[in-house]
Amino acid sequence: MSIALLAGPPGAQGMEGFAAHRHRLGDLPEAHALIDSVERTNLRGKGGAGFPVATKWRSVASQRGGTPVVLANGGEGEPLSRKDRMLMEQRPHLVIDGAILAAGAVGADEIVLYVGADHAGALQAMHRAMNERPASERARLRLLSAPVRYVSGEETAAVHFVNAGIALPTSIPPRPYERGIDGRPTLVQNVETLAHVALIARFGDEWFRSLGTGNASGTTLVTVGGAVPQTVLIEIPQGIALADAVNAAGGITSNSDAVLLGGYFGGWVESATAWGLPLDGDALRQQGYSLGCGVVAVLPSGRCGVVETARILAYLAHESARQCGPCTFGLRAISAAAGRVAGLASTPGDLEHIQRWAGVLAGRGACRHPDGAAGLLASALRVFAGEFSLHEYQRRCSVASAVAAAS
Ligand SMILES: Cc1cc2nc3c(=O)[nH]c(=O)nc-3n(C[C@H](O)[C@H](O)[C@H](O)COP(=O)(O)O)c2cc1C
Ligand code: SF4
Repeated sequence: MSIALLAGPPGAQGMEGFAAHRHRLGDLPEAHALIDSVERTNLRGKGGAGFPVATKWRSVASQRGGTPVVLANGGEGEPLSRKDRMLMEQRPHLVIDGAILAAGAVGADEIVLYVGADHAGALQAMHRAMNERPASERARLRLLSAPVRYVSGEETAAVHFVNAGIALPTSIPPRPYERGIDGRPTLVQNVETLAHVALIARFGDEWFRSLGTGNASGTTLVTVGGAVPQTVLIEIPQGIALADAVNAAGGITSNSDAVLLGGYFGGWVESATAWGLPLDGDALRQQGYSLGCGVVAVLPSGRCGVVETARILAYLAHESARQCGPCTFGLRAISAAAGRVAGLASTPGDLEHIQRWAGVLAGRGACRHPDGAAGLLASALRVFAGEFSLHEYQRRCSVASAVAAAS
């Protein structure tokens, strides 16, 4: 891969400046028929939901409610992900190029760069990059720091923050592409998605497709963590096996029974199945999995899947905006019950309740936050079924007993 998002100077050198960026990749091309070209790449959003990019651009471009706005989403609230902040730290000009191209394609006159307030390096790099741009481009760019909260990156929350300073989701419809910032059609696009566009516009859709493996197209950023030497960001050809990505991250440091694929909005997969899965959003979707925001977290031996799931549910319950029933009541109750089961202190019926609630949480909130929690829980109940039963009915944890026996 001689050209890709992370090609060029090593990440340790920090941000690639404007002059070096343009010297390496050339000027921004006139983007004729860019939407068609993006459509041919089959590029999908990298923020988690995997929505087709060209389809969203056409929807924004066809709205009649005023001049559109682009919001580059670098909120990255997912605790296991590093990709967006590191991309912005190292290649801020790719993100800005992509946002400018997107604005041109949908007819937008303003671009909001929305970056998580706790991603100090990314904020600094984006700020510097903005100031390196010619005045005509700078005038259209606005950098905002997003409050530190899981739901801040949800698209209606991001729009709400720009409009009213409140980074909480709002009910839909209208969706941002219909009525978003200042009531105008708003294209909310993840920063990695935009960075890919910056390369597609320069090198073409055929080039992008050729980077993938098999039927998969392009590259994708993946954060590999858990039972690996250290959490790392890697860029992989889409479609390579999950085991190859883990090996590229240094290989596993302990045996592992399960992998959390896609982050807190993704799901658990038994390792035996996970190693062979192709890291390609489309292929994974067909098999009932999700690449989400590109997280591969390998559960280390000595860590219990039930305990880890309860911890994640507690986090998601705490991070919800507590505006709707499914989060305020459902998610909180599930999290409390899962905490009791994990802590070997369940009350009768906890596991049955969790199983029942897991099926009714999705699709009922103003945003997809509870859907993500329900998906994660359903996968845990499947992958760790034996361990859940052991915790609930025998008040035993096989992992804790194994660790205790070995020490
Ligand atoms: C609870 C929640 C949190 C989200 N957080 C982020 C985020 O931090 N960054 C992001 O790009 N998308 C996030 N999303 C997805 C956005 O709503 C939106 O789909 C995305 O920014 C669109 O860009 P994409 O199509 O390029 O992925 C989140 C969604 C939900 C439901
Ligand atoms: S579903 Fe949950 S996170 Fe989403 S808006 Fe409602 S309370 Fe907030």
